[in-house]
Amino acid sequence: MSGRIHNEALRSKVMSAPDAAALVENGWSIGFSGFTGAGYPKEFPEALAARIDAANRHGEELRVNVLTGASTAPELDGALARTGGINFRAPYQSDPDMRAAINNGTSYYSDIHLSHMGPQVSQGFHGPMHLAVVEVTAITEDGELVPSSSVGMNRTYLDYADKVVLEVNTWQSEELFGMHDIYYPIGELPPNRPALPITHPGDRIGSKTLKVDPDKIIAIIETDAPDRNTPFKPLDHDSLAIAGHLLDFLGAEVKAGRLPKNLLPLQSGVGNIANAVLAGLLEGPFEQLTSYTEVIQDGMVELLDSGKLTVASATAFSLSPNAANKMNDEAAKYRDKIILRPQDVSNHPEAIRRMGVISCNGMIEADIYGNVNSTHVMGSRMQNGIGGSGDFTRNAYFSSFVTPSTAKGGAISCIVPMVNHVDHTEHDVSVLITEQGLADLRGLAPRQRAQRIIDNCAHPDYKEPLREYVKLAEKKANGMHTPHDLATALGWHVRFLETGTMVQH
Ligand code: COA
Repeated sequence: MSGRIHNEALRSKVMSAPDAAALVENGWSIGFSGFTGAGYPKEFPEALAARIDAANRHGEELRVNVLTGASTAPELDGALARTGGINFRAPYQSDPDMRAAINNGTSYYSDIHLSHMGPQVSQGFHGPMHLAVVEVTAITEDGELVPSSSVGMNRTYLDYADKVVLEVNTWQSEELFGMHDIYYPIGELPPNRPALPITHPGDRIGSKTLKVDPDKIIAIIETDAPDRNTPFKPLDHDSLAIAGHLLDFLGAEVKAGRLPKNLLPLQSGVGNIANAVLAGLLEGPFEQLTSYTEVIQDGMVELLDSGKLTVASATAFSLSPNAANKMNDEAAKYRDKIILRPQDVSNHPEAIRRMGVISCNGMIEADIYGNVNSTHVMGSRMQNGIGGSGDFTRNAYFSSFVTPSTAKGGAISCIVPMVNHVDHTEHDVSVLITEQGLADLRGLAPRQRAQRIIDNCAHPDYKEPLREYVKLAEKKANGMHTPHDLATALGWHVRFLETGTMVQH
């Protein structure tokens, strides 16, 4: 045994992953730990996938509903999706096999704001939770759970599931103990849910451990498997240009007196552009920064190391393999600067609005009026999901969205007449940024926004076609507030599907 299970009574529940997976019944809803490839169970999902494969071969029905914190890894989403055994999936995913199962119709998917997931489960909106499968770093003598590299939905799943399987992972550093902040009152149902007492990203308001009713624990699995940690690509021209535009804008806002010198708490989405923004902050003039965000990636840790960032609040790590190993070696050093919270606290609208968070997220496309699509490709296909982008965007001090101006080698313009799906409405989007430039949309009416977005953000190859669309729309529209020619508003997407390019020849 690993020596990480300090409660004697619970040691008797240790068993193999296949034995634990054998306890699952057809139709169960399972709440898995895991958020952006951190802190997901490593052994149980693959054992369950093997069981589903065997059931498929024997013509037996074995399908489950998979709920998580957010995206997981090939060992969870990938392994289960490949069996065809996922009936329903929520609230976020980014795995290629899971995406394929959603887009070929094998699995239903409900794409949910990540701060909504906890309340929805506690309010019973997802039906009964049969099982929680949660990775932990250790079990204390009195049976409390030390979380691992993500907190996500763990508090809620442990509270609401009928049964619990724990995976104790010795790859996770024991020094993580003390980094987490588990706030229980947020789980109260209305009308009894209290105000969230966070006024600064560094506030600690809860406990260091998760609690679980020991009678619900049906199995404990031991593992030493690492998190899925993906290396970041080297910073490319577009990412650096986008980061540069945002940083110049923040500087100008400070100068104009609309932001304090140390800015306001920063939220940054995941991926390479976000990492470029963080790298830019490392070189930039801002000091004493804070972050109230969803995930901590490499750039954020480097900012903490440099002293420019004083504290970072999130729900999970999303680190490259090198940074994850460093975090495991040096977790004690970061315990007072990094706070990992449940996702309904890390992404809580009340805290985001109160503190005035500056949000920055990736997008698929934006339209000329400032509506943003973060999730859908050409109308019908799901890419990943809305994640926490809506939690932060609507409640931010100001919100920004970033993308290269084109995709697929220029065949797609990421600025279009009308988005093929709306995740963030024109009412919520303050700033759009591409490598071409930045469009500050605050205080503008739709027709003024269209001009600015085309002038500042569209790729030169698409500027004229967009201006022609605006002229046509103003001629054909039944009103001049948000002029559209409904017959051709989605024509660029249709052309891409028919010819492989949005360019009109
Ligand atoms: N139309 C069609 N496809 C497009 C596109 C467009 N306008 N823009 C990009 N794509 C394609 C890319 O070509 C790429 O395709 P591939 O996987 O076949 O190579 C894919 O979409 C991803 O694009 P990429 O440029 O690699 O984007 P990214 O890694 O920066 O991710 C999002 C962009 C929008 C997918 C990502 O930010 C996301 O999932 N956002 C929603 C969740 C979120 O914001 N989370 C953070 C909240 S805290």
